[in-house]
Amino acid sequence: MFPQFTEDQSAIREAAHAFAMAEIDPGAAARDASGEFPKAILKQLGEMGFLGMCVPEAYGGGGSDFLSYILALEQVAYADASVAVTMSVNNSVACAPILSFGTPQQKERYLKPLASGEVLGGFMLTEPDAGSDAAALKTRAVHVEGGWQLNGSKAWITNGGVGRYFVTMARTDPDKGKKGISAFILDAHQPGVIMGPPEAKMGLRSSKTVMVALEDAFVPEEALLGKPGDGLKVAFGGLDGGRIGIAAQALGIAQRAMDESVAYARTRRSFGKPIGEHQMIQTYLAEMEARLQASRLLVYRAAAMKEAGRTCTVEAATAKLFTTESAVWICDRAVQIYGGYGYSHEYLVERLYRDVRVTTIYEGTSEIQRMVIARELLK
Ligand code: CAA
Repeated sequence: MFPQFTEDQSAIREAAHAFAMAEIDPGAAARDASGEFPKAILKQLGEMGFLGMCVPEAYGGGGSDFLSYILALEQVAYADASVAVTMSVNNSVACAPILSFGTPQQKERYLKPLASGEVLGGFMLTEPDAGSDAAALKTRAVHVEGGWQLNGSKAWITNGGVGRYFVTMARTDPDKGKKGISAFILDAHQPGVIMGPPEAKMGLRSSKTVMVALEDAFVPEEALLGKPGDGLKVAFGGLDGGRIGIAAQALGIAQRAMDESVAYARTRRSFGKPIGEHQMIQTYLAEMEARLQASRLLVYRAAAMKEAGRTCTVEAATAKLFTTESAVWICDRAVQIYGGYGYSHEYLVERLYRDVRVTTIYEGTSEIQRMVIARELLK
């Protein structure tokens, strides 16, 4: 197996799989139907050190390497992609930017509770009129006595309503364009942060995604993350790791679709034999497996590069582009193999098909990943 896992990585992967199948998988279909947020499961993941996996133990985290995090996330997604996105956002775009850019005081105050799972966090970059073009964001941060006052709207905020600390990008200097954006750690537990109701989504129905209105939301001076004007660096740096995480989420979903499809092809019969003996089904299974294996290599390679401290913007974009597009295709084929049953809520592949769809959209659409890759090629 490439890469060769260390003993710790193998142990984390096994522990994550065992926990996912024993504690997360059994209630996943019911949570998908009800939209209930898996609070108790998140608490357990926090106790396991899975909500701040790459954060040093001194700051309440798991002290693991990045590939271990990716292996764990893949296993959680295998059981329930809604839990996986909650875990991914907390790790990748809440904890990681604070770990990279935070002062010792910020790490003590914000990272510790986030990494230990005492509170959940998130990332407020996207706005109603600034999605792919993140630098077009309009939320304004005005310097006031003792800190900053934020006004604006944020959209599609994962962990909104269930999280407390959000890495938030806002415009501090309207005349400086991309360099006039700064990053803050926003405490959502204040009257100026108004969380909308959970969005009614196609999939990931038990993860919480909301619109947020910021009305004179206050951020103290000491919660500015990085230097004024560094907002996009904080945001895009975090998204490099985040995109590998979303690719791992897609990989977990796709592996589940693959396993379900193989099991079904062995037992479902048509024309007097198991459907797995029909060449057309074999062709689907073989193609699904090939895309899965290629995806896995890209995801683990990008994770290993990130762990080695190398710039991995293009590798992360490549892994996300190929894996999420492949995963959408794999889940579509899984539904096809199941035939009419694949279109029914009764069967898992129907949920996988809905859950996987957003992976080509959030943390940078496939079009944005292509743009990142092509820019590098044409430099
Ligand atoms: N790491 C660190 N810094 C980076 C960087 C990276 N990977 N990429 C760019 N930067 C820096 C640049 O160096 C630049 O700073 P300097 O001028 O000082 O050099 C600054 O950031 C701006 O970069 P660009 O000029 O390249 O910015 P751009 O406006 O051309 O945008 C883009 C580039 C790739 C299109 C970017 O806007 C992008 O990635 N858009 C997609 C947004 C996105 O992914 N949103 C996800 C939302 S979060 C989410 O989905 C979470 C969830 O709920 C699951």
